[in-house]
Amino acid sequence: PSATSPSLSTNDCAPSLAISRFPIQPLNQFRGASASIKRPQEVTHFSYDDDHQYKEDESSVNYYCPPQMGADLKEGFSTFRHYEDKTDPHLDSLLRAVASKERITGLQEQADFVTWRGMMTKIMTAPFDMFAEFAMFATFRDGTIYIEEDFPARAAQRAQEASRPPPKWQDPNMPNHRMMTYWGYKFETLALIPTPPSETPREVIDARPKAPVSNYAQHCSIVRTSFGPHVLLLGGEVDGLSAPKPPFLNDPIPWIELKTAEALPSNPSNRDILKFERKLLKFWAQSFLLGVPKIIIGWRSKQGILTGVQELETNKIPGMVRRGTHCWDGNTCINFATAFLGWLRSVVTEEGKVYRLSLEKKAGIVEVRETKEAAEGIVSKDFDEWRKEL
Ligand code: A3P
Ligand code: MG
Ligand code: MG
Repeated sequence: PSATSPSLSTNDCAPSLAISRFPIQPLNQFRGASASIKRPQEVTHFSYDDDHQYKEDESSVNYYCPPQMGADLKEGFSTFRHYEDKTDPHLDSLLRAVASKERITGLQEQADFVTWRGMMTKIMTAPFDMFAEFAMFATFRDGTIYIEEDFPARAAQRAQEASRPPPKWQDPNMPNHRMMTYWGYKFETLALIPTPPSETPREVIDARPKAPVSNYAQHCSIVRTSFGPHVLLLGGEVDGLSAPKPPFLNDPIPWIELKTAEALPSNPSNRDILKFERKLLKFWAQSFLLGVPKIIIGWRSKQGILTGVQELETNKIPGMVRRGTHCWDGNTCINFATAFLGWLRSVVTEEGKVYRLSLEKKAGIVEVRETKEAAEGIVSKDFDEWRKEL
């Protein structure tokens, strides 16, 4: 694509900060067979424990065990332990886990990009997500581009959402936005156990509907993957395993992604199907990026009663949508991301500079703007020092 060249500020006194733009449209340029992609391979992993403390182990890995139907996903909302970052987490845990791995192997985990999976999900889905906007920071260090979320912007957005009164039209009997954030975690509590089902006492399995819900604990997988010629290290949360991890390092891991969605009526209208298939875009992109092979959907009623579960194979989703409403195209997402990353490598080139990436949806462009910010936050001091030692 023909991205515009940097336009320079006209202010003669101040050093000018370059701006570059990458157009998303027309999408035709990204259609066709997808750029070569490799199956993501786990490099390392870490857990957050029940206090959200970093642990270099598998202690927070959970196993899938089908939940009982008829459960109320709203139950326990008043005792929800909701973890939200108060300070900018940057890429710290991801880099900490990578440094640990490098200490063991003595080899540098080279990559063109290092970021959280969530950032890549936003980039990959940008061509088809009509409402998406994003803001990120990127910096170039020693051959690698590190990308993180613009945390202050995200925190401000969250605060705004929280203070917004419910819309006037909202039925007081209907669950509100906060409740809808809760019930995804409630579904996880109903569908997961901390040990493989065969080793788990029946009482533990049956006690899940009354178990407290918390999102403090997490398990994160860090994978190496590639989009065309670009090698990425991505870290992201995995919800659980459908079977024990295989013994060999390079074997695929049977991770699962849990999602809730409103059950389709028995005679769904085209609009119902379109709404669901649109939702599948994020489900697919998120799971595809970490190589999560299976997505388990918890179907719920409008009021939040769990009515069914359905397993979807991640790599079959793009074909399903292609044959269905065709509201998005997986190859276009991959080709867009590949082209965008290639372009980013030609823009984010100056060691130590910080660039702000923002998706300007109305203009249909991703803008990259040099900032005067310091790069220290993005790449942690510990990681920097470790890499000097290696
Ligand atoms: P659902 O996706 O089933 O609604 P994840 O699916 O990524 O593992 O996240 C688990 C749950 O966290 C989600 O379950 C949802 O409840 C909540 N959640 C995650 N991201 C959210 C967001 N951007 N806004 C609101 N809730 C979110
Ligand atoms: Mg999750
Ligand atoms: Mg999930």
